[in-house]
Amino acid sequence: MIAITGASGNLGKAVLSFLLQKTQAANIVAVVRDPQKLTDFAGTGIQIRKADYNDPESLDTAFRGVEQLLQVSSANYGEQAIREEQNVVAAAVRQGVGHIVYTSTLNPSESPVFWGGQTCVRTEKTIREAGMRYSVFRNSMYMETIPLFIGSAMEDGQIYFSAGNGAISFVSRIDIAEGISNVLLQPEAGNRVYEVTGEKAFTFADVAALLEKNKKISCAYTDVPQEILKEELINAGLPEEEAVFYLNMGDSIKAGEFALVSPQLEKLLGKKRLTAEAYLAQILRNSEVNAG
Ligand SMILES: NC(=O)c1ccc[n+]([C@@H]2O[C@H](COP(=O)([O-])OP(=O)(O)OC[C@H]3O[C@@H](n4cnc5c(N)ncnc54)[C@H](OP(=O)(O)O)[C@@H]3O)[C@@H](O)[C@H]2O)c1
Repeated sequence: MIAITGASGNLGKAVLSFLLQKTQAANIVAVVRDPQKLTDFAGTGIQIRKADYNDPESLDTAFRGVEQLLQVSSANYGEQAIREEQNVVAAAVRQGVGHIVYTSTLNPSESPVFWGGQTCVRTEKTIREAGMRYSVFRNSMYMETIPLFIGSAMEDGQIYFSAGNGAISFVSRIDIAEGISNVLLQPEAGNRVYEVTGEKAFTFADVAALLEKNKKISCAYTDVPQEILKEELINAGLPEEEAVFYLNMGDSIKAGEFALVSPQLEKLLGKKRLTAEAYLAQILRNSEVNAG
């Protein structure tokens, strides 16, 4: 049996959809906090089990009989995230899971600029030492985060952030999900770390140039001093904690932590990955259709 944690999230749902195309529904277990969030999958025949990363007993029950497990990383950060992720690995070990697939981040380390990297390095180590087969997906930033980063630039062409000239190897979350589903279904998979990236890395100036090409308006990226950006974000209604997390991402990008480009995902998919150019053209077309 294959279980997917975070199955109500964007990545988890996409993995479920690929698995449903490739294996019998009876083999699939979706692990969620709130089964109401999986109504799209009602009637597909998958099992839905309820568990919370903070409740080890619920994880034990959810992982019973599971051979392959996708561990979707915590949505928190810091000590809370570390605790949640350690709970998942410990329950997987107790339940005799044979193969765990974990969604990590690019460049995890003891002292990364990106806070998430510290959680991931700990979880990766615990998984490696636990004795199960493992596949680690060190994901770059999702392409689907581009609209969040560029804000109103799709209308006015102006991108404001504090990522300097740092580049990001944006990768499609759908491609990641397909790659994960392939690995979950390979009986021989395991003990591998995949650097999961798009085929090129883009600075925000590059993103502005792509926008300009597709949108036929003048576009530019302005690197905003952090204090000013923080104030703007808070004034726009973002809680301070989230604003600080966002600035930390900018620092991490500036430090080059998301710039790595690797062909590994393309090999796993056996086809070309979605490019940032194609993705941007597609969302601009959709926004024009919706506006019209
Ligand atoms: N590479 C990137 O650019 C990037 C960007 C954002 C996030 N991430 C990481 O990648 C993960 C997956 O991405 P995504 O887009 O699928 O995120 P998402 O849509 O926010 O989904 C997160 C999933 O985790 C579940 N979850 C959160 N806290 C939980 C808990 N205490 N117990 C059980 N389940 C819990 C959520 O359940 P509910 O539906 O009940 O909340 C949801 O199913 C995220 O959790 C985050 O660690 C990566």
